[in-house]
Amino acid sequence: MRFTNVLLVLILWSVVIVAAIEPISTGIAIGMAAALSGFLACYQNVLYYFHECCREEWISYNKSGLEIDLKRKLFGQHVASRVIMKAVTGFINNKNPKKPLVLSLHGWTGTGKNFVSQLIVENIYNKGMTSNYVHQFVATKHFPHLSHIDTYKAELQQWIKGNVTICPRSMFIFDEMDKMHAGLIDSIKPYLDYYDNLEGVSYRQAIFIFLSNAGGEKITRIVLDFWRAGRAREEVQLKDLESALSLDVFNNKQSGFWHTSLIDKNLVDFFVPFLPLEYSHVRMCALAEMEARELTPNVEIAEQVATEMTYFPKEEKVFSVKGCKTIGSKLDYYI
Ligand SMILES: Nc1ncnc2c1ncn2[C@@H]1O[C@H](COP(=O)(O)OP(=O)(O)OP(=O)(O)O)[C@@H](O)[C@H]1O
Ligand SMILES: *[C@@H]1O[C@H](CO)[C@@H](O)[C@H](O)[C@H]1NC(C)=O
Ligand SMILES: *[C@@H]1O[C@H](CO)[C@@H](O)[C@H](O)[C@H]1NC(C)=O
Ligand SMILES: [Mg+2]
Repeated sequence: MRFTNVLLVLILWSVVIVAAIEPISTGIAIGMAAALSGFLACYQNVLYYFHECCREEWISYNKSGLEIDLKRKLFGQHVASRVIMKAVTGFINNKNPKKPLVLSLHGWTGTGKNFVSQLIVENIYNKGMTSNYVHQFVATKHFPHLSHIDTYKAELQQWIKGNVTICPRSMFIFDEMDKMHAGLIDSIKPYLDYYDNLEGVSYRQAIFIFLSNAGGEKITRIVLDFWRAGRAREEVQLKDLESALSLDVFNNKQSGFWHTSLIDKNLVDFFVPFLPLEYSHVRMCALAEMEARELTPNVEIAEQVATEMTYFPKEEKVFSVKGCKTIGSKLDYYI
């Protein structure tokens, strides 16, 4: 952009100089300048191909891409897959959303919450997680000190406002939401609400994703009940989990949610439950990890890695304690 401005100034100057030296050809020079400016206007479009900007060339939703990714890469999360597909597609296809999209992802550790956020990002932003329009905040990393809460609040509000001003289709991912101070959650509430605009900025194209372990134990209990009753995991439906989940989060004083009105004001559009992972999923994670490292998938090693993980409850050993986390480092040991 700056480069083209410099060029434009140079051209205008040459017009002035030519006009001073040779009055007759001024008309021609001005014509040339106009043609060149026209070229530069297009040239700026060329620049857009190299520098990320808030345009369709860089930000466009690939519905089938997300569908395929969720089906092929995400294991054992049929409920979450369905909710996310519906939520994201519905929101992006809506030309005039009444509020930003707010998703709250809940579940046991290592079940794919960060992983899914990444899949969503990759199918909206060409540059994926490295996009300038995707912002990830980790409570314990970005907002660690309770004593600085007022600074954090002001900063965070300014960041959200500044970034949405630059690009309405911005995404904000808040990790470890259950460790985030209630006051901080409160401070972002206005941006999630049904406002036309706040101080001239509209937030209705933005996407907010909250990640937490809140409700994870409750989800696990429900899935375990299905398992004990001999019912298929795939029989678990959103309605089996949703109400229990939001109540659980709401009643959990440990989690920051408790103090806020995110839930009772219905600012969260979708609660997305992540189910605890079983041996078969861990095995698939190990195979996927080998593929990602461009190794020939080895079933024997995958099964060895999956067997080495710890499972709970003690008697039945159904669910992986760490989900698919640490698969990578376990694999290092065998390769
Ligand atoms: N359901 C899954 N399907 C495929 N891979 C998965 C799944 N869950 C986890 N993984 C793999 O394990 C890694 C760790 O998972 P991830 O970071 O998404 O867990 P998380 O749910 O965010 O856990 P935590 O609550 O501890 O933050 C991912 O990068 C991914 O490779
Ligand atoms: C959408 O994603 C699919 C699968 O990943 C890919 O083949 C396709 O090229 C993508 N489409 C666009 C427009 O990027
Ligand atoms: C956008 O957000 C980032 C944090 O992700 C912050 O550092 C930056 O200052 C923000 N930009 C504006 C214009 O506020
Ligand atoms: Mg995580």
